[in-house]
Amino acid sequence: MHLNINLDWLSPKSPPLLGLDISSTSVKLVELSDTGKGKLRVERYVIEPLPKDAVTDGNIANLDQVAETLGIAWKNLGTRIKNVALALPSSAVITKKILVSASLTGADLENQVETEANQVIPFSLDEVNLDFQVLGPSPASPDDVQVLLAAARKEKVEDRVAACEAAGLKAMVLDVESFATQTAYEQVAHLLPDEGAGLVVAMIDVGAHNMHINILNDNESVYLREHAFGGNQLSVEISRRYGMSIEEAETAKCKGALPDSYQEEVLQPYRETLAMEIGRAIQLFTTSTQFLHVDQILLAGGGAMIAGIDDVVAQRTSTPTMLANPFANMAVNSKIRPQALAADAPSLFVACGLAMRRFES
Ligand SMILES: Nc1ncnc2c1ncn2[C@@H]1O[C@H](COP(=O)(O)OP(=O)(O)OP(=O)(O)O)[C@@H](O)[C@H]1O
Ligand SMILES: [Mg+2]
Repeated sequence: MHLNINLDWLSPKSPPLLGLDISSTSVKLVELSDTGKGKLRVERYVIEPLPKDAVTDGNIANLDQVAETLGIAWKNLGTRIKNVALALPSSAVITKKILVSASLTGADLENQVETEANQVIPFSLDEVNLDFQVLGPSPASPDDVQVLLAAARKEKVEDRVAACEAAGLKAMVLDVESFATQTAYEQVAHLLPDEGAGLVVAMIDVGAHNMHINILNDNESVYLREHAFGGNQLSVEISRRYGMSIEEAETAKCKGALPDSYQEEVLQPYRETLAMEIGRAIQLFTTSTQFLHVDQILLAGGGAMIAGIDDVVAQRTSTPTMLANPFANMAVNSKIRPQALAADAPSLFVACGLAMRRFES
C-alpha cells in the first residue's frame, strides 16, 4: 500500500524556461505555460529587431549588439523567468546516427560513443561540444541500440551562451534549430490526415535571407537543406521599384504602406518567385532521395507572411499547402491580441519549439 500524494506543486518537474530564437533579423522570445489539462498556453512573446549584420548566416557577428537587443527583448517581455532554451543553426551542428552495443551503460556507454564519434566527426573532439541521445533498439541488429550524435563547434556554443549571460539570462537548453522546428511541428501535426502518420511533410521556414527546409517522413526528419531566398528579396524589389532605402522598404512592406501598383507589380511576382523556389527545393528533394513526392507543405517564417501565399504555392507545386501556426491549438493569455499573435505566429515557429522544451526532458 502506498500513499500517493501529488507533490508536483512543491517540486515542479518542469522548471520555467523561455524559448529564445536568435535569428538573422531579430531576437524572439516565447513563454508558454501548461494549463494542466494537456493544453499549453501562450503567456507572452516578443520580437525585437536586431541591428543589421549583428547575426549573419546564423553566426553571432556582434556579441555586444546581440546581448543589448536580447536585454531589451527580455525587458519588453515582462517576465521573471531568466532561464532560456536556445538553438544553434542546423548548419553549425553535425548530427550522425551510430550503433553501439545495447549492453553498455553509464561511463562505458559514454566512452564508446566518444570512440565512435572520433571516427565520424570531422573535427578533433577538443574543438566540439558533443551530445548524444539513445534512440532505441536497432531494427537491423538486435544487440545494438541506435544513438544520435550531435557535435557543434565550441566557439558557436560559447557565443550563444555568452550573449545570454551578458543580457542577464541563463542558457539551460541548447538545441538545434531543425529539432526545435520538429518540436513545434507536434502542434500542427494534428491538423493533418492521421496526424501526419505515413506522410511526407515539407516544413519550409522562409526567413529573411534563407529558406530552412526540413522534410519529415512518417514524422521523422529525412532531409535538411537551406536555400538562399527569403523575405529580404521582397524588400530589395520594393527599394528598387520605389527608390527607397532597404530600411524604408522593409518598414513600408510590413505596414502595407505602398502605392497601388505594389500589389500587382511587386507583390504578385514575389509570390510567384517564392512558390517557384519552393517548387525547385522540392524537386531537388525528390530527385536526390528515394522519395517521389511530398504530401503536404507547411509554411512558416516571416518571409511567408503574405496574404494568399499558401494558394499560390499549392497551385505551383500541386501539393496541399498550409500556413503553420504553432499556437493554433493553444490557449492564449488575455493580454495578447489574437490578431497580432496570428500575424506573428509563423515567424515564431522556432522560438515556440524551444519554449516547448520546458515540458520535455
Ligand atoms: N507582415 C509582413 N509582411 C511581409 N513580410 C514580413 C512581414 N513581417 C515580417 N516579414 C518579413 O519576414 C522576414 C523575417 O522573417 P523571420 O523573422 O522568420 O526571419 P529570421 O528568422 O530573422 O531569418 P532567418 O531564419 O533566415 O535567420 C523579413 O524579411 C521581414 O521583412
Ligand atoms: Mg528564422
